[in-house]
Amino acid sequence: MKRCFAYLVALGALLISCTAKKDMAPLAVNLVPVPSHVDRDEGSFFFSSEVKIFLDEDTPELHRITAFLTDRLASAAGINLSFTREKNQPGTVYFMNAGLPEEAYELRVEPQRIVIDYGTPSGAFYAVQTLLQLLPAEVFAPSRQRGVKWEVPCCRIDDAPRFPYRGMHLDCCLHFFSVDFLKKYIDVMAHHKVNRFHWHLTEDQGWRLEIKKYPLLTEKGQWRKETVIGSLSSGIYDGKPYGGYYTQEQVKEIVAYAAERYVTVIPEIEMPGHALAAIACYPELSCGLEDHYETATRWGIFKQVYCPKEETFRFLEDVMDEVFELFPSKLIHIGGDECPKTSWKQCSHCQALIKKEGLKDEYELQSWFISRMERYINSKGRDIIGWDEILQGGLAPNAAVMSWLGEEGGIKAARQHHYVVMAPYPKYYLDYWQADPESEPLAMGGPTLLKTMYEYNPVPEVLTSEEAGYIMGVEGCVWTEYMPTPERVEYMAWPRMCAIAESGWSSAPKDWDGFTRRLEAHLGRLDRLDVGYCKAFFDPLIQLHKDTEYSKVVSISVDAPDAVIRYTLDGSEPTAASEEYSLPFVINRSQEVAAAAFRSDKKIGKTTYKKF
Ligand code: ACM
Ligand code: ZN
Repeated sequence: MKRCFAYLVALGALLISCTAKKDMAPLAVNLVPVPSHVDRDEGSFFFSSEVKIFLDEDTPELHRITAFLTDRLASAAGINLSFTREKNQPGTVYFMNAGLPEEAYELRVEPQRIVIDYGTPSGAFYAVQTLLQLLPAEVFAPSRQRGVKWEVPCCRIDDAPRFPYRGMHLDCCLHFFSVDFLKKYIDVMAHHKVNRFHWHLTEDQGWRLEIKKYPLLTEKGQWRKETVIGSLSSGIYDGKPYGGYYTQEQVKEIVAYAAERYVTVIPEIEMPGHALAAIACYPELSCGLEDHYETATRWGIFKQVYCPKEETFRFLEDVMDEVFELFPSKLIHIGGDECPKTSWKQCSHCQALIKKEGLKDEYELQSWFISRMERYINSKGRDIIGWDEILQGGLAPNAAVMSWLGEEGGIKAARQHHYVVMAPYPKYYLDYWQADPESEPLAMGGPTLLKTMYEYNPVPEVLTSEEAGYIMGVEGCVWTEYMPTPERVEYMAWPRMCAIAESGWSSAPKDWDGFTRRLEAHLGRLDRLDVGYCKAFFDPLIQLHKDTEYSKVVSISVDAPDAVIRYTLDGSEPTAASEEYSLPFVINRSQEVAAAAFRSDKKIGKTTYKKF
């Protein structure tokens, strides 16, 4: 009997909690990102060492893809799958090239066999990622798990990406992250069918990419003499030199590692702004208005930018030549954001250039700068992508825009028939708070809650369907001012990135309740993958709304599905007997709200507090 997927998903959490009946209940299908189409059938397929793999295309690449399944089953389940050339043998997983579009796959799980249809290896890879999520979450555990039934629910899945570009960014300049951490980051991205790693490698606060022709960039430019403590304007510094860079060998290792997971690495080399670390090494690249340049020690924007003169272009072209050797990506990110025009206004070379080229102002000079670099990059067979500001003064002819200043840049670029990646702040900025700032570590700006991120539609409604075709995808941004460690990066990025990944991959209609049910099961996978995600999902968010001078209206919500919120107003810990929250209420100045979420009278997260 075929059942409706939505109905099953709705039942999923309930069934999991009914332990007495667990053996009889159909397994829930809780996939993140959700596929385009899922039909649940009766029964299960069971993995054991008797199960065989049949490869329609017996190539090294398909063997490498199947290893993502066989390695997990071997290490977590102690199950060793072998290969067969025999068709029609029960207990076989078939990988069949059925000529499907790029990245698409179909997965049929039947009691006696699993059939994976694909058209390109990336499709087979994504089918494996889905199959791993259909297995018990223990399959992601780092060590052998005992007492688990390695069962996959029978189903039919028809899946293809909504967008070709599904990106995740990491700023490795404000803070530096090891090669091992980057590999883990890419692993987790790939599990979510995210296929672009936007690697932010150059900044005012440090240059992180080895360039053989300009060794000072890393010998010196990797270092800042100290780092601001707290927010950018605290004025207090730690007095400790901070540095780090990637050798070209390490870059090749990362690029190859990502490619095996169908992730393209897009390097970002910032220009004309955010260039202070390079200028500190080679002051001749600047407008020469200062005697001394130093790598920045605080966050923010700096007026010391590249001067558009021949030696600057020679430098940037040389850097690009090495970038082309290291990164096969067709798209190269040239930054372009936050370039103050202060120095150009005072620089006689810049002013003469504006006159000579018949430019209107410094904005057009920026456009001229980017267009010139684009010509060079295009001449080497690559395309550029830059942040919104490359629209100022006119977009370079073939440039794609990464829209971060809200949606306006993306809309403008799509209307000019330029490709766009939607990465709007704060909706897709993972450096913003994800819970009540009062109880969270220091972060950027205001809160961007999981729900806000999930519900954001990356195709602005004002676009015509033709214009909407230029939205090539989405990206979650991880700026690391306030993320000095890998643990903090994971805490800020996950699980919110699950929501962005789903918006990038899935064409299924938005369904917040369904998402929270699937996500809760998915958190069990992130646990096994040792991803230190934020657990605010289980904690009530207490919001105080403006009322009178002496009163506030209180609303309380929690992301976890099927949870009851209970609260107190006398400072005591909420228990299963405390008042149940149903509607917003009023408190006065002397009161403190304490709230916790419960299921079956058991508390599921932390207690949260809020004073008037
Ligand atoms: C940016 O956040 N400056 C692109
Ligand atoms: Zn200048």
